Amino acid sequence: NTASITVVAIDGPSASGKGSVAQRVAKHLGYGYLDSGALYRIVAHAAQQQNVSWQDAEALAALARGLHIEFHGEDVLVNGQDVGDAIRSEAMGKGASEVAVHGPLRAALLDVQHDFRQAPGLVADGRDMATVVFPDAAIKIFLTAAVEIRAERRYKQLLAKGAAADLSTILEDLKARDARDQQRAAAPLVQAEDAVLLDTSAIDLEQSVAQAIEIVANIKTIA
Ligand code: DC
Repeated sequence: NTASITVVAIDGPSASGKGSVAQRVAKHLGYGYLDSGALYRIVAHAAQQQNVSWQDAEALAALARGLHIEFHGEDVLVNGQDVGDAIRSEAMGKGASEVAVHGPLRAALLDVQHDFRQAPGLVADGRDMATVVFPDAAIKIFLTAAVEIRAERRYKQLLAKGAAADLSTILEDLKARDARDQQRAAAPLVQAEDAVLLDTSAIDLEQSVAQAIEIVANIKTIA
């Protein structure tokens, strides 16, 4: 029975920095880490490789059930193939957001996500961690930032990598991604009623991590 194992659920929009914050919080607590967005990226990538349409809900669900997924740090093995770099592309981010609208696929990925709930605890990041996947999470954080700020952060990241980037295109893409993630019928991105809001618009990564750790500590003291 895993119900007693602590889950820290961190949800938020694209490029909010929740992945970096969640990984750092997990490390600080000595907990495991689930990057649920990677699962949707993996499905989008596998579908592309196997000529399955991103619109075909049932085929995507069947495909997902046949995937053997292993995370080893930054390495992601799917049926033995390393797709760590491939799934991090902007194209697979968009693909993930498209396949993620399908309820049957989301249902097929539930068990995979629940399997990550292992002692001593789990930090899970995504869109529906607090609302659907781990509704009984002891700690729920909704981590966000203004879309203009998120666009600027993504822009600077791409420039730092030496990649070509256009700020207004990034902003429009993020707005489209937000709209699709928030407006879908199945498990839309929404702040859970019992989640603590962490707005990082005016603070950097270090400060965001510190505040997240403080939120966790406060709730653990009360509990
Ligand atoms: O966190 P990310 O950018 O890697 O997620 C990519 C897409 O996957 C995101 O735009 C929507 C989808 N997603 C989801 O629907 N539910 C999750 N728990 C995580 C991601």
